[in-house]
Parts: sequence; structure tokens; C-alpha cells
Amino acid sequence: MSAGNSGQIDSVMQENRLFPPPEEFSSNSQIGSFEAYQELYDKAKADPVAFWGELARQELHWFEPFNETLDWQEPFAKWFVGGKTNVSYNCLDSHLSTWRRNKAAIIWEGEPGDQRTLTYQQLHREVCRFANVLKSLGVVAGDVVSIYMPMTPELAIAMLACARIGAVHSVIFAGFSAESIADRNNDAQAKIQLTSDGAWRRGKVLPLKATVDEALDKSPTVEHCIVLRRVGNDPAMKEGRDHWWHDLVDEASDNCEAAQLDSESPLFILYTSGSTGKPKGIKHTTAGYNLYAKKTFQWVFDHKDEDIFWCTADCGWITGHSYVVYGPLSAGATTVMYEGAPNWPEEDRFWELIEKYRINILYTAPTAIRAFIKWGDHHVEKHDLSSLRLLGTVGEGINPEAWIWYHNIVGGERCPIVDTWWQTETGGIMMSPLPGAIATKPGSCTKPLPGVLPAILDPAGNPVGENQGGWLVMTHPWPGMLRGIWGDDDRYREQYWSKVPGKYLAGDNARVDSDGYYWIMGRIDDVINVAGHRLSTIEVESALVSHSAVAEAAAIGRTDEIKGQAIAVFVTLKEGEPSEEMRNELKLHVRKEIGALAVPDDVRFTNTLPKTRSGKIMRRLLRDIAEGKEEVGDTSTLEDYTALASLRDES
Ligand code: PRX
Repeated sequence: MSAGNSGQIDSVMQENRLFPPPEEFSSNSQIGSFEAYQELYDKAKADPVAFWGELARQELHWFEPFNETLDWQEPFAKWFVGGKTNVSYNCLDSHLSTWRRNKAAIIWEGEPGDQRTLTYQQLHREVCRFANVLKSLGVVAGDVVSIYMPMTPELAIAMLACARIGAVHSVIFAGFSAESIADRNNDAQAKIQLTSDGAWRRGKVLPLKATVDEALDKSPTVEHCIVLRRVGNDPAMKEGRDHWWHDLVDEASDNCEAAQLDSESPLFILYTSGSTGKPKGIKHTTAGYNLYAKKTFQWVFDHKDEDIFWCTADCGWITGHSYVVYGPLSAGATTVMYEGAPNWPEEDRFWELIEKYRINILYTAPTAIRAFIKWGDHHVEKHDLSSLRLLGTVGEGINPEAWIWYHNIVGGERCPIVDTWWQTETGGIMMSPLPGAIATKPGSCTKPLPGVLPAILDPAGNPVGENQGGWLVMTHPWPGMLRGIWGDDDRYREQYWSKVPGKYLAGDNARVDSDGYYWIMGRIDDVINVAGHRLSTIEVESALVSHSAVAEAAAIGRTDEIKGQAIAVFVTLKEGEPSEEMRNELKLHVRKEIGALAVPDDVRFTNTLPKTRSGKIMRRLLRDIAEGKEEVGDTSTLEDYTALASLRDES
């Protein structure tokens, strides 16, 4: 359902099963009825600025109060202007004067089975220590810290330590290549690199430090590299530049006041793919993001103090930022972090963890759910999952069959499912059922959260009718929204605010049904969604074309049972012959240029690519071919008909 192709949309249109919130769930919820949701929604809609202002005063600690709730100079928003706060303070210090100081903040399990629990008090101490380490290396407010680490507590500690002193973190998912790290470091002008000797993945060691070494050769702004000992191997350490984490932390004081930061002080940059080859550094700032992550966490997961919450995302993605670290910790929750793969040592690892830690809320991706289905129900049924009370999904659409499986097999038919729609750019969840209030329909993210004002428009900017697909936009700023693209205001304006003037263009197609439920219908641009991760087809194409044998390449997303979309590429060679060897070489090349997550599933060689008369590659046609469709779409604009015949022969 994540790709907006019409066959899939039709199947979703027939989905009309309705799952009302279980009565017992509703009666214990913060927002326990549809009427309560509607009342809150209407209040927020009537005056969104006043609504968010009131919440910001209640939910965040203010060293100095703000004097203006929103300064909107389209497309640039400033929220809570004049206020001073600190995200690390809100996540840690605010709990230290309450009973939560000895509550588990992070429960962590490494892939080999090692475990650690950090209470709020302990986490606070570690964050203060590491903040002092950063300071000792000359990091000051506004400096960018690049983080390339495994899912260890130290990753969260590093993020919070940056937040504590006003440094800006840029977390790079540990599956990206040296090239990708260097690109991001250079774009952000990163000053410090954090990494580890390695990471565990399916029992093997990923040598993160070696990848970082290669990246740092091309990252001239990085002065120091701090290396966490995780796997115990023996990486090269460059004298003067590289430092062991434990050496620095051992000497650091655990006393570090949280800096009193401006509401709009940058908190982090997170790179994501857009419709061009160059990833964009999405910028989020302090107070608005913090409020949004906290409130949406509380609303959507109906958080209770005794809950153990597990979001399975990696902190290299926005979901990990907002719902592993910042949302849960500012709400005083217990958040679970797991380092490794879901199928290590066996395919039941997730269920084992849920049983072991008595996890109450599970938030994961449809791609994982589809893999679990394939691996078999027996892995789930082996474990006692009775602690679960709520399930969530994120990252791509969930097909109704997978939704029903999740509901029946994992949720034992008693747990509501929250299908949450949002983006790196939105900072937090925008549309989702509130589990005690809104009846769910498999495949629909249902309704906007309070304070979120979406619309669906045609390209001329007019609202479309019921059940008609159109562009999903936001008609009013919200506190969690991106504040721009790092260093590129023009691109920010152009990509998000120009196609429909004055409105935020999400880049997704959607429709609203007769009950006012939203159904996401896939991207409107060349961004594909592979296993819940965003990739631009142009990025993959640029990587391929940078190989000396490649003349031209076209990448498309084709439907894949497990990953939602898989990457298929069509390549014309300028030298060498099509062969299995060349195919593997090109896959390796993409892995080196971007990272493992971008390696094409299919590589097909062809003499020519199908193009329109104006020279545009006809991706739709390629998609039909990649999916093995007998009938390909409209070919009336095709420039060279022999291209089609040759493609079919080759494939
Ligand atoms: O196309 C939508 C899809 O993922 C895109 C955002 O990707 P990213 O910035 O990587 O963030 C993913 C995690 C928040 C969206 O534009 N998407 C995300 N959630 C859903 C979804 N599509 C359908 N249903 C969802 N629940």
C-alpha cells in the first residue's frame, strides 16, 4: 500500500472493517471517547496558536518564559519566541525531583544478550559526564556533532549530552557508507565524530570505526573522534584525533548544568532523501520539537507511568529520535532499546524480549511485520505476550492483511493498533488513531492529532472530493515542523512551500473517506520507501552512473512482499559486457557509495532506456516491466518503441 499504484489503492478501497477501541481500554485512557477527541481537536482548530501555547507552558520547563507563541514568516516558523529551555533538562532533570528519579529510563539489551538498565538518575549522571567530555574537546553551542553508533545507551547519552550544551547532533544510521558519512559531515560542517569500535549484527561485527576512518579522510572539519568500546576489537586509533570514550568519561565530572537555550536553538539535523540526488539535512529546533515529541507520545501511546514502551526503530532515523529518546524521556517513560536484528539468534527475538521485559507497548514497522508473518506464527506463539496492551506501526502503509495478522497473532485481538503517519520533516506523529478514542480501519492512519490541520488538494490548490486522491498538505504550522533544510533555504521553500503556496506539501498522495478517515496512497515524487526507509531513486541512479562502466541508469521501486518496495535498476553499459559479475560489482558499488540499505534487488541490463520525446525516463513503464506485468501502461509518449521490446528481451 505504500506505493501509490492504482491496483493497491483499489484493494484498500474495499477495506471497511471497523475496530472500535475495546471498552476497557477506553475507560482507562486519557482521551477515552470519540467525543473527547473531537472536543480537543475542535478546540485546537479554533485557535491552534493558543492551544500550543497553553501546552508549552504546562509541559516544558522554562528558564525564561516565552513572550510570543508563534512568529510565522512563511515558510519560516519560530515557536515560543523569547523563551529559554533545554531538551535534556526536560528529559532528565525534571524527573529528578519526583519519584521517577529511580524509575528505569532506559532498558537496554545488546544483540549478544547483555543487558543494562539506567534509571533517570543514572542516565542524568552519564549525560552530564559526556556533556563535559564534549566541552573538554572544545564543543560549544551551535557546533555539529556527527554520530555513527550502534543502538547502545551511549547513543542516547550522546544525543542528550549534545542537547544539554546546545550542540547540534547529526545521527547517521550505522548502515550508511563512508561516502555518505563524509557527505553529511561536510554539509553540516561537523566538528566531532562519535563512533564505536564496531556493532553487533546477526552475530557478526560491523567495523564501524574502519568506515569512519575512511569517512574522516574526507571530512576536513572533524577535529576529534570519540570511540566507544562495544565489541572489543582493536581498531586503528589516530594519535591526537581519536580518543577512547571510556578514557574521557572516566575523567569527566558528573556535574553539568543544562544550558539555558533559546526556544529556536537548533537541536539536530537529520539527513533524509528528497527528490534529488543530494540528501537534505532536516533541521529541528529545541522547544517546539520537544513539546511535539512529548505530547504526541502521550496522546498516541496513551502513556501510563507503569508502561514499558518499546519502539524498535534505530536512532539513525527520526522515529528513533522522537519515540526512543525524546518523546518517552520527556514524558518520564521507560523506553526499551535493542541493539540487534529481529532474527538473531532466532526469528523470535522480538517476542522473547517482550516476554522477558513484560513490554506493554510495541511500536514497529510494517516491513518487520511482513517478515514476521513469513517466518511463521509459531515464533510468536511460543511466547507469553499477555503484557502487550497497545501496538503501533510507522514508516509506510500497512496492508490490511498484515494489520489483521498483527492484531490477531501479536495483539491477541485485544490490543488497539495505532497506524501513525508522519515524516522526518514533521518531527512527530501527525495522523494516528488515539487508541482509546478512535475506531480503527486496517490500512488507514485515521484522523489528524489535535493541532494538526491537513487538507487534500489538487495541483491547482483546490480541495478534492471525498475518496478522491490528491496532495496531502498542512494548512497551519505546528511546533514539531522542520525549521528548514540545513544551509539551503531556497531548497526548503521550493520543496515544501512553493507547489501549493502557503501550505506545507508533505509529498504524499492521500484521500479521505466518508467517515473523514485518511488513507495514505504513496509518494508524489521519486522517493521510494524500502523497508520503511526513504530513498531517492535519483540517489541510486547517481551512485550507479559514478561507476566507470555505466552509461545510464534508471532506478524504480517495485512492489515487494516484505519490504514494501524493492529497488530495481535498469542499466546501460558504456564498457564491458552484461554479466553476473558486473551485476554484483554494481551492487557492491552502490553499497560503497550509499550503504547496504540502497543495494538494488534487481539489476537489469539494457541497450536503451525508454524515454519520452523530451528525454524523461518513463519510470512508470519500467515499473510495469520490473513487476512482470503483461500490459504496460500508456506508451503514447514513448520516443523509441524498440526500447520497450529490447527491455522485455533482456529481462
Ligand atoms: O510516504 C510516507 C511514509 O514515509 C514517509 C516519511 O518517511 P520518513 O521521513 O523516513 O519517516 C518515516 C517515519 C516517520 C511519508 O512521507 N509513511 C510514514 N508513515 C506512514 C507512511 N505511509 C503510510 N502510512 C504511514 N503510517
